[in-house]
Amino acid sequence: MEIKTVGIVGAGQMGSGIAHVFALTGHDVRLSDMSQDALANALALIDRNIERQVSRGKVTAEDKASAMARIRTTTKLAELGPSDLIVEAATERETVKTAIFEDLLPHIQPHTILTSNTSSISITRLASRTDRPEKFMGLHFMNPVPVMQLVELIRGIATDEPTYKALHSVVEKLGKTAASAEDFPAFIVNRILVPMINEAVYTLYEGVGSVKSIDESLKLGANHPMGPLELADFIGLDTCLAIMNVLHDGLADTKYRPCPLLVKYVEAGWLGRKSERGFYDYRGEVPVPTR
Ligand code: CAA
Repeated sequence: MEIKTVGIVGAGQMGSGIAHVFALTGHDVRLSDMSQDALANALALIDRNIERQVSRGKVTAEDKASAMARIRTTTKLAELGPSDLIVEAATERETVKTAIFEDLLPHIQPHTILTSNTSSISITRLASRTDRPEKFMGLHFMNPVPVMQLVELIRGIATDEPTYKALHSVVEKLGKTAASAEDFPAFIVNRILVPMINEAVYTLYEGVGSVKSIDESLKLGANHPMGPLELADFIGLDTCLAIMNVLHDGLADTKYRPCPLLVKYVEAGWLGRKSERGFYDYRGEVPVPTR
């Protein structure tokens, strides 16, 4: 089955990045969000990010114009009904995701494939709440979506082969590389990456190093493009905490216990870049460590 029209639920940083890459590769995109402001911000962000690619000679001005023209926005989930593929990229809370799929079901086509960009929640469980667990998969993009090469493909217990193959070709059409992961908590990338971030927060909590020394150590000592605390701010501390909780609950091993300092930052509403404060304060000219 060829996928031509893609509905995306959620116009945050992941949803807008996903809309960006689908539109640039010739798909018609309908991007939905409850908030009109979020949709306007997403379009402005996509425009800026494609412009960045134009200025570096990676995309032509004509391709940018056609990509922007392929994206339509809506505050009504029902308008995603005609899509061949739906990618849910809403908040990382299971109740929110389940409610979205329930609302979508009466409007979609018999052939529509449903996917979630969840970074850790069970695909099998999300699928079981829909009328088509065989046409349901995890389609997990990395942030920033236009730059990161990998997409994780996660089959639920009931996912059928045609659905898997259709999504594998979609990932190829996006010019990205698919990695298949089994449906266990946090799949592959986050199973490894987020406990490392949590360990960096413990390293800070126990006073082994400051924000600056921890980030510098991993950047210069392990060649990571970003330090783990900078990366945590980039991902969102609420998302990091949600992933640790899924690992802790799902695998019942104390090695996954979320660091109390991570919990404290989230309770303070210091969620990283998106709230302008996390392990760094982003309100000034340059990010300043908060510890
Ligand atoms: N859209 C389009 N292009 C973008 C972009 C965006 N949003 N962000 C960056 N770029 C481009 C830049 O234009 C630049 O392009 P050129 O190579 O042509 O010059 C290139 O990406 C590098 O960007 P910068 O020069 O601005 O900055 P940088 O070299 O510091 O790289 C980074 C930025 C790519 C984000 C890099 O720091 C990095 O790779 N960081 C780690 C990111 C990471 O680990 N992501 C995974 C997070 S985990 C996840 O997403 C899973 C989850 O579920 C939580």
